Parts: sequence; C-alpha cells; structure tokens
Amino acid sequence: MEQMPDLSVTTRHALQEAILTPRFYTTDFKAIDALDIDRNGLRDEFEWIREEFERDYNRNHFKRNEEFLANFDDMPVRQLFIEFLERSCTAEFSGCILYAEMVKHLKDPTMRAIFRCMSRDEGRHAGFLNKTMADLNVALDLSVLQKRKKYTYFQPKFIFYTVYLSEKIGYSRYIHIYRHLEKHPENIIHPIFKWFEQWCNDEYRHGEFFSMLMRSQPELLNRPANRRWIRFFLLAVYATMYLNDCRRADFYRALGLDWRTYDQDVIRLCNRIATQVYPETLPVDDPRFFRHLDKAAEYDARANELANRGGTVNQAQAARLRAGIVLRLLATYRLPPLPTREATKWRGLEGFPNYPGPDWRARRVAAAD
Ligand SMILES: [Fe+2]
Ligand SMILES: [Fe+2]
Repeated sequence: MEQMPDLSVTTRHALQEAILTPRFYTTDFKAIDALDIDRNGLRDEFEWIREEFERDYNRNHFKRNEEFLANFDDMPVRQLFIEFLERSCTAEFSGCILYAEMVKHLKDPTMRAIFRCMSRDEGRHAGFLNKTMADLNVALDLSVLQKRKKYTYFQPKFIFYTVYLSEKIGYSRYIHIYRHLEKHPENIIHPIFKWFEQWCNDEYRHGEFFSMLMRSQPELLNRPANRRWIRFFLLAVYATMYLNDCRRADFYRALGLDWRTYDQDVIRLCNRIATQVYPETLPVDDPRFFRHLDKAAEYDARANELANRGGTVNQAQAARLRAGIVLRLLATYRLPPLPTREATKWRGLEGFPNYPGPDWRARRVAAAD
C-alpha cells in the first residue's frame, strides 16, 4: 500500500482490505436503471415505502447527550470497542455512498427518492459513529475513505442479495444487543448502545425496500442458478459474521454476551426474516450447520495463532487450516436448504409499520382525521 503519513491510524486501518473487512461496492447502475419495477404490480408498495422513508422517523434520534462526554479512557475493552465503531462506521458509510450513487444514476422518481432517504439514514449513522469515535480521540476521515478505499464491483443482483442481507442482519445484531442490555444495564459499557433500538428500525426498513426490489424481479428469486447464489450469499454473510465475532469474543464478553450464543441467535432471526423474500434459506436448525461453523471458527483461531508465530512450518500449517475452513463452509453450503413454506413465512415485525395493502392512503387520511 502507498505511504499515507498524514492519515490517522484508524483511517489507515479502515482503508485496509481483507476478506472479513467491510467493503465499498459499485455496480452496473445503468442495468439497475433499466429494471422495470412495475412488472410485478409492486408500484403501490414502493410508493408506500417511499412515504415511510420521507416521514423520517429518526430525524431527531441521532443526537448525542452529555453521557457521551464522560471520560472513557478506562472503559473495558476500549480498543475492541473502537474497532467495533470503526467497522460499523465503514459499513454505514459504504451504504451511504452506494445509495447516493443510485440517486445519481437512476431516473425513476420513486427509486431516487427512496435511495436518497436511505443514503440520508446511512450518512447519519456513519456520522453518529464517527462523532463517538472523535469523543475517544480517534476518528475516520470519511472523505479519504471515499476517495481511497477500493470499490468492489458486484453485478446488480449480487448487490441486492448481499445488501438486503446486511440490512437485515444489521437489524438482528443491533436489536439483540439492545434487548440484552435492556435486561442487563450493568453491561452498558458506552451510551451508544442505548441508541440501537430506533437505529435498527432504519436498517429493517432499508431491508424491506430491497425485499420489494427483489420481489419486483421474480427471476432473481426463482431461477435455480439464482437460488444457489442466494444460498451462497446467506452463507457468506453468516460465516463472515461468525468468524469475525469469534475473533472478538472479549468484546461481547464485556457486554455480558457469549459471542457464539449471540451470533447463533442473530443468524436464526435473520434466516427467519429472509423467508419473507427468499424461496429457500439455510438449515440453521440442522445440528451439522453450526457444527461446521464452529469448526471453521476453531480452525480460524488456530490458523491466526500459527501465522502470528511465524516460520515456514507454522505458515504451512496455517494454510492447511484455512483450506479446512473452506471445506467446512462447502459442507455447510451443501446441506439441504430449508424451503420457504407459506405457513412459516416471515410476516413482518410486530408493531412495525408494514405495508397494509393498497388502501393505505385511505387509512392514512382516516388516521389523520
Ligand atoms: Fe445504517
Ligand atoms: Fe441500512
């Protein structure tokens, strides 16, 4: 990598690319612009969610209070917490940029309005995280990140599969932490976690939009090859989180969480939510599923330990273990998928504004009277 002497350590760290780090994406915007979103009769639903976004429920939510100005020099797992903020900020900012690019390239007014609102939300999330980092005397230079970070090209359908899942798993991660800390306030190591409940509603809503977008293009969901891609991305998202969180067990322990139980709960919820759109999901209740992921996490820990020790023999053994991770993931991928059944399909979050059907305008007028 080129020399970057003027950048903060955190910015330099966020610029590094590795398999498990958050990425910036680019895609074929022209192909997305050419999609006919009216094809499956979903225009009304898109219009409804546009209005939802424009209501901007969290307009006043992302404001820090005096709790943020306390001295966190001696907080537990400070370095891991900073890393958590950095990764989250990079991921949020990545969404902000991608959605802003959509606004630039798309012509459909409903789509543009929706992406503008989603970019607004992600920019707000990234800014909130970055200010929190600044309180701890570290901050990311987002403009440098935007210019210098490598952009990964994904064709549109892969963007939809992966972004949908990162929104929904983001929701699942934040809500599990929030609910846990609600019960165990003694583990709130920083006030930012108190903001997670409303925050994750934004992510849930973003995911709802991508679910609509995929439903408006049924071949993305029905073709056998695409079903295989869907399973691939489900596994990629789950496994990436599992390996990442296993490496950061101390962080979760400081929050009073066992990383493994937490991750499994997060994956189970995300997998249930994904039945709202995906014709099949992963068999997370098959005992082999988490057995394989546990082995992959174990190999990853041993491989990292060996690689850190250095030396040719250790490096070779680390490489063998990494090959073992690939084999375990392949075995997980090959487990018979869980077909989505009408009876068990995800119907939406209770208490959350879900599409009420084509009479929503009349209902809104009635509610306002
Ligand atoms: Fe976000
Ligand atoms: Fe989001």
